[in-house]
Amino acid sequence: MDELRYQTEDDFINSICHFIEREAVKVVNACGRFTLVLSGGKTPQRIFMPLAAGRVSLIDWSCVHVFFVDERCVPPDAEESNFGLADRLLLSALPHIGSVHRIHGELEPDAAAEKYERELREFFSLNPGELPVFDLMLLGMGEDGHVASIFPDSRELHLPTKLVLATEQTYNGHYRITLGLDTINRSRCNLMMINNEAKMKVFHAPFDGTGAELPVGRLKNVQPIILEKQ
Ligand code: 6PG
Repeated sequence: MDELRYQTEDDFINSICHFIEREAVKVVNACGRFTLVLSGGKTPQRIFMPLAAGRVSLIDWSCVHVFFVDERCVPPDAEESNFGLADRLLLSALPHIGSVHRIHGELEPDAAAEKYERELREFFSLNPGELPVFDLMLLGMGEDGHVASIFPDSRELHLPTKLVLATEQTYNGHYRITLGLDTINRSRCNLMMINNEAKMKVFHAPFDGTGAELPVGRLKNVQPIILEKQ
């Protein structure tokens, strides 16, 4: 997909909001529901607030089912919680919403991963071994080339077929729960928000010093949206 490039943060944010709106309207009109997967981090915060404020008015949130691409292993009311961030800035402001499926970061990591996987299998009525197809994932990336909580040279990067994984190590002090790479790649669209030069360079050359491909380089069905100037 061609890169969408913007020179101002307002245009970048507006474009993301309207991209989500177009996809939601198209998919709800076609099949009556829209599955939206949110990320954590700072970039989505800038998206949640205008969405909550009704910047895009055509989304029928009662048909939207919200999931998370990853979560830190913290309680939902912790500052680091991806769910907590989305709930404070967006979900709690919506009068009605189809459903919200958070990752229970307060549980032991393996239990949290198993619980989320069970919930996904039930929601999508998956057969054993089958992976879900989400409509839209709102993805960020790190300057190290990580996506979701799939980090360079991590065990998680080498287990792409797993639906949900608990990370083998901590990142910024917390274990994490993440969707696996194949599930991310089965999404109809992965909207990749690239909001600085360093991320753009890594996105365009996703290899580490040894030539190994970084997680962001393994993505498919990616719609890059780039903020060119900061
Ligand atoms: C997380 C996210 C993570 C994030 C990137 C970019 O839980 O932190 O899932 O993958 O998208 O780290 O974060 P920023 O938007 O803060 O740059």
